[in-house]
Amino acid sequence: MVGIIVHGGAGKIRNEEAHQKGTKLAAQEGYKVLKEGGNALDAVITAVKIMEDDPTFNAGIGSALNLLGEVEMDASVMLGSGGFGAVGAIKNVRHPVDIARKVMEETDHILLVGEEAGRFARLFDFETCNPITPEMEKRLQVLKEKGESMHLKKIRKLLPLYEPGTVGACAVDRNSEIAVATSTGGILGKLPGRVGDSAIIGAGTFASKWGGVSVTGYGEGIIKLGVAWRTTELMKKRKPDEAIRQLIEEGRKQNTYFGVIGIDKYGNVGFDYNTESMSYAYIIKQ
Ligand code: GLY
Repeated sequence: MVGIIVHGGAGKIRNEEAHQKGTKLAAQEGYKVLKEGGNALDAVITAVKIMEDDPTFNAGIGSALNLLGEVEMDASVMLGSGGFGAVGAIKNVRHPVDIARKVMEETDHILLVGEEAGRFARLFDFETCNPITPEMEKRLQVLKEKGESMHLKKIRKLLPLYEPGTVGACAVDRNSEIAVATSTGGILGKLPGRVGDSAIIGAGTFASKWGGVSVTGYGEGIIKLGVAWRTTELMKKRKPDEAIRQLIEEGRKQNTYFGVIGIDKYGNVGFDYNTESMSYAYIIKQ
């Protein structure tokens, strides 16, 4: 059994058609890698890069802007066998998820942040890019014009009103290896230097021998709840959908908004959210 599940963010989705199209394409291309005998890591990276290139999603090109109008992106990858790599608040790269993979494969560390994460990317000749889109500039302007102060509590209240778009993928390959990748521009109007759950092991991304999880939504809340790690732990004894439901319920009780996707080593998938909506797609085959 091989399979892949992807998400394109949880929240209020304004452009459903674009979300459906983008997540479907990502799942199809990721699945193609698995079908041709590729591994789960290549599958999730392929899927996430497609969504990083699609301005529909808040990752790579089209990322949310920080308070200064800049893009600072977070991304991570994890293997069921334990490897993890991440970048936080990285600027001017096209595919943050590729740099996260490089951190995992080529360094003794698990997380590089800010300017030095950018320098690391340049050392390996990764493609540079200005991910700022006029659409995001407009949205930051609207946020500012609402007269709200930019403190996070205010942003948190506003968050459900904004189009989501953190992206993620979980896959299992024919060797039952599990891989997860997550990538995001973070929260619109965030303070410069803020790093969210998508770069934090066990928060936005986690994989083990029996399952893997990617999370999207309000990063600070996701980090506090340790959503990805706890959900994966529950998957030792439960199917992904049951495990995910438990964390979603807990989030709801604590007014913490997020969505979760997951896959186990048998190819069972799960997804749920306590936001208005979440875009996702999956393909599972014998
Ligand atoms: N979950 C994405 C973020 O809060 O940065």
